[in-house]
Amino acid sequence: MGGWDFARRGGLDARPRRSRQGRGAGLAGARRGAVVYRMTYRTALITGASSGIGRGLARALAESGTQVIACARRGGELEALIAEINAQSGWGRARALVLDVADSEATRAAVKQADADVGGLDLVVANAGVGAPPGVPTWSWEALGAACQINFVGAAATLTAALPQMVARRRGHLVGMSSLASFGALPGASAYCAPKAGLSMLLDCLRLDLRNTGVAVTAIHVGFVRTPMLDHAQHALPQLLPVDVAVAAMLARLPARPAEINLPQPLALGTRLFAGLPRGLRDLLFRLPLFRRDGI
Ligand SMILES: NC(=O)c1ccc[n+]([C@@H]2O[C@H](COP(=O)([O-])OP(=O)(O)OC[C@H]3O[C@@H](n4cnc5c(N)ncnc54)[C@H](OP(=O)(O)O)[C@@H]3O)[C@@H](O)[C@H]2O)c1
Repeated sequence: MGGWDFARRGGLDARPRRSRQGRGAGLAGARRGAVVYRMTYRTALITGASSGIGRGLARALAESGTQVIACARRGGELEALIAEINAQSGWGRARALVLDVADSEATRAAVKQADADVGGLDLVVANAGVGAPPGVPTWSWEALGAACQINFVGAAATLTAALPQMVARRRGHLVGMSSLASFGALPGASAYCAPKAGLSMLLDCLRLDLRNTGVAVTAIHVGFVRTPMLDHAQHALPQLLPVDVAVAAMLARLPARPAEINLPQPLALGTRLFAGLPRGLRDLLFRLPLFRRDGI
């Protein structure tokens, strides 16, 4: 990964620039005439970039001028993404990094090395995640162990690997891809809710600990986004978002470095209110067909 030349890209400027060009100039899938935010993170590392939300983020960031390191286990999918991005840009805006975040030590070493290779990561997105595998109970160790290792431990390793260097530079943005499922317990979702709640808590703690260091922390809480993760979902998918809409909404808000981004907002508000109800009342409501879950 050595030899990347970022100097000519200029310094970090994470302010959104409004443009009415819409077509081809900015976020993946941005509709013609829509407001386009020109993201100018100089460098970014994104885990889970071979598919779904991570892939969309990597594409959109690269299109807006960011040098992207796209990480995942499936090298073939990553190479296809990189070829697509680089063919479009005409110069190397993206690199693939094959990485299994379930191996936290290897993840820490790879992210730290990436930070050194690019002369400092401005944005790290811990996005890699899994739902419960089909065919085993969500409370089984087979489901829980893997989900905790990937969705929580792997994310923690990703986020903290280059943190000492970011703090020393007094610059950086850590982003974790959590879920509205982190707001409160849901039936049939032990393996998903628990590590995502841990991730959201970690992000909020990091945000407090990193105040005044120049490093910002954002938790993204997503409802339902049409990605391969939901291919086998057998429960209701209210307010389902297409990937490009979710990605555009995230990238429109990230430059302000908020503590959290909740998508879609009506579902986020409803989920937050629901989680605040007395436990007995929630237990009664969980008997409704809406809450019948058999998946993530
Ligand atoms: N889709 C939704 O409705 C939804 C809702 C809330 C939150 N989220 C969160 O959004 C994030 C992205 O999910 P998605 O919906 O885009 O699903 P997706 O399309 O299935 O993508 C998941 C990504 O995570 C990567 N990944 C999984 N295990 C990994 C591991 N051990 N090491 C490295 N990479 C790994 C996968 O790549 P490889 O298989 O190539 O490794 C893939 O790129 C996840 O954290 C998910 O929990 C999604």
